[in-house]
Amino acid sequence: MIEQEKDDIICDCTGTSYQKVQLLLDNGATSLDEISDATGACTGCGSCDILVIEMVEQHQKQLAKL
Ligand code: FES
Repeated sequence: MIEQEKDDIICDCTGTSYQKVQLLLDNGATSLDEISDATGACTGCGSCDILVIEMVEQHQKQLAKL
């Protein structure tokens, strides 16, 4: 699990926070593309891609356990 404060920024290029990504996941987003479309994250330098993908994968694993 990525350890971070809720207001920490996951995407410096767009100022997207971990909390925003988590909110989108909680509301049904299932892919990096959906996160990217909603926030612009991963449309700049791309260095946050791996972090967003990791959050998506972790969320999917949590859903699979339910
Ligand atoms: S940090 Fe997200 S695109 Fe650059």
